[in-house]
Amino acid sequence: MNRIEKLLAQMTLAEKLGQLTMTAAGHAVTGPVIAGDSTEAIKTGAIGNLLNLVGAGPVREMQRLAVEESRLKIPLLIGLDIIHGHRTLIPIPLAEAALFDPQTWEMTAREAAKEGAADGLAMTFSPMLDVSRDIRWGRTAEGSGEDTWVSVQMARAKVRGYEGSDLASPDALAACAKHFCAYGAVLAGREYASADISERTLLEVHLPPFDAAVAVGVATIMPAFTDLAGIPMTANKKLLRHHLREQLGFDGVLVSDYNAIAELMHHGIAADLPEAAALALEASVDIDMMADAYRRGLPVALERGLVTMEQIDESVRRVLRLKERLGLFDDPYRRGSRPESQAALTHRRKLARSVAARAIVMLKNDRQTLPLPGTLRRMCVIGPLADAATEMGGCWGAAGRPEDRVSVVAGLRQALPGTEIVHAPGVRFSGEDESGIAAAVDLCDGADAIVLCIGEMASMSGEAASRAFPEVPATQRVLAEAVFERARAKGLRVVVVLFSGRPLVIPWLAEQADALLAAWFLGNEAGNAIADVVLGHTSPSGRTPMSWPRAIGQIPLFYAERPGGRPYNPKDHFTSKYMDVPNEPLYPFGHGLTYGHFTFANLTVTPDRVAEKDTIEARVEVTNQGAHAAEETVFLFTHDKIATVTRPVLELKGVGKVTLRPGETQTVRIAVPASELRFPGRDLTPVFEPGEVEILVGPGADRSQLLVQTLVLLAA
Ligand code: GLC
Repeated sequence: MNRIEKLLAQMTLAEKLGQLTMTAAGHAVTGPVIAGDSTEAIKTGAIGNLLNLVGAGPVREMQRLAVEESRLKIPLLIGLDIIHGHRTLIPIPLAEAALFDPQTWEMTAREAAKEGAADGLAMTFSPMLDVSRDIRWGRTAEGSGEDTWVSVQMARAKVRGYEGSDLASPDALAACAKHFCAYGAVLAGREYASADISERTLLEVHLPPFDAAVAVGVATIMPAFTDLAGIPMTANKKLLRHHLREQLGFDGVLVSDYNAIAELMHHGIAADLPEAAALALEASVDIDMMADAYRRGLPVALERGLVTMEQIDESVRRVLRLKERLGLFDDPYRRGSRPESQAALTHRRKLARSVAARAIVMLKNDRQTLPLPGTLRRMCVIGPLADAATEMGGCWGAAGRPEDRVSVVAGLRQALPGTEIVHAPGVRFSGEDESGIAAAVDLCDGADAIVLCIGEMASMSGEAASRAFPEVPATQRVLAEAVFERARAKGLRVVVVLFSGRPLVIPWLAEQADALLAAWFLGNEAGNAIADVVLGHTSPSGRTPMSWPRAIGQIPLFYAERPGGRPYNPKDHFTSKYMDVPNEPLYPFGHGLTYGHFTFANLTVTPDRVAEKDTIEARVEVTNQGAHAAEETVFLFTHDKIATVTRPVLELKGVGKVTLRPGETQTVRIAVPASELRFPGRDLTPVFEPGEVEILVGPGADRSQLLVQTLVLLAA
């Protein structure tokens, strides 16, 4: 009999339910948790898993209690939200998506895993794979934006990065694909609201990233708080047990979201905790995070005959198997036993700085305002986000420390030792106080350059941070308008650095800024990375992973729309449009300027008649006609013109990258397996339909900028 079966045979019901329970240990290890003081619960085996414990010392002490003082000495599984770095914070996931670079995405996850494991952790609640097309939703910040293909690449990269080649390795973390599923489709972008989408949209848009995570071996999955068409995900047997486990063969651990099992009562599908616990167990949720529903509810559910001991044992086996795969039984202290070298930390900070610079999306750069010359005499840096190191961490700062973060002012001062850099916030984040604006604007007088740093606070995106007006806060707009007015009077240009956890509705800012950088939240190296880009040490290369609406009324706005029967035609009144705003986004998906100037020519696509087993190969000549070396991102979209189901007007299927010196031309090759052109047919089963398909290649989801070739897909 193997170790797990031997343990199971010895376990009491309380010990079994302890393995199915995860409680927040807080940063103070003996803080009150659902089991009272977690130390006692661990010694009795009433708690078998922890979250939110930071520091190798406290983690080791909790692990010691479990493996040395409890009866069965079963090691703890200890997890944390390592969402964009552990202590060395990199850009928030939406910003990192702007790199369109799966290799880097995997690298940063590997670095985060090393750092988290060095603190004794064995699990991260990441990657977040929710596709979001609604910028009102605060958790847009945590995902990879509006596009399914990007989220699929992110899923593969992050799971591989966190879990490495061997889950038992001392620097491997169990990854957690979350939040399964369609959480990004919450009603009106309002956090935790109901989600109700078609089966087709579920299959085409929201499921593929999770299927991809399972295919590369993700160890755990977290169901979303939300219901999907009336069935709360935490009790969604069809999608959890049938789709994930029976169809895809996922045999890992399903961990509920925080208190989500108890919240089945709020959803109105469980009258009490035992019923809620029974529904979740029936759906094969293995670990109850923070609801205490399994420990307190399942014994009653057993008595009522709502669940069986076999179902409980099935979940306990999966949890114990995960701990075994993590190597926790063989050596529970293997993670956290060795601090990382200074060289490793230095390497990581350099990577964080490079990723931060590459995450910046240059939305506008009129009259080559950027890069600024390095010989500036006096620069004024204005705005509440200019000297705001703490805010640079963005949402989910995990174990990061504000003192490790570099503000814009600090980064610029570091980069320009010979320049007088003066700063004033002008306004504060909260309140209507505009009394500081005049003094801030006066700083423009006598300056050679003006950098305006405005946008959201870190807490205005992430969880529980939906915004009905996803804009720049009103007092900051007053400040900005005053700065623009003074700059115009002085013949000066204004570089705007915009911080946010989502695209913002900023037509007035786009109109007036001479240069506009989307800086999202870039993590510890924010100020240095912004200085690197602003001063031309590196060219911006980020591309927006979400469309930027012109108006709130356009939301949800995304490029991969279906055409409809009356697609917009300026010559025909009765076509799809608004009376008061154009259909197009302010900035389309994939938009991002560089210090180069790239042109595309001579697209060739082979073969021109394609069977499903073939690989479509697109080649395009890219030339840098600008004055600076830069990296260009090349997108390959498809458009299935005639099919048995209406197809999106564009679908991203591949990305290429090339770095070119001024005047240089290179051919970029993008290969796409033809099987990627399958889609759910009329009966929702995957089909590869014969007929014409357009291949469109260029700098983003603006059809007017794309080169087009038409292929013919052949029937099987
Ligand atoms: C939170 C989030 C989830 C996170 C978990 C643990 O409420 O929904 O993303 O991993 O609880 O912190």
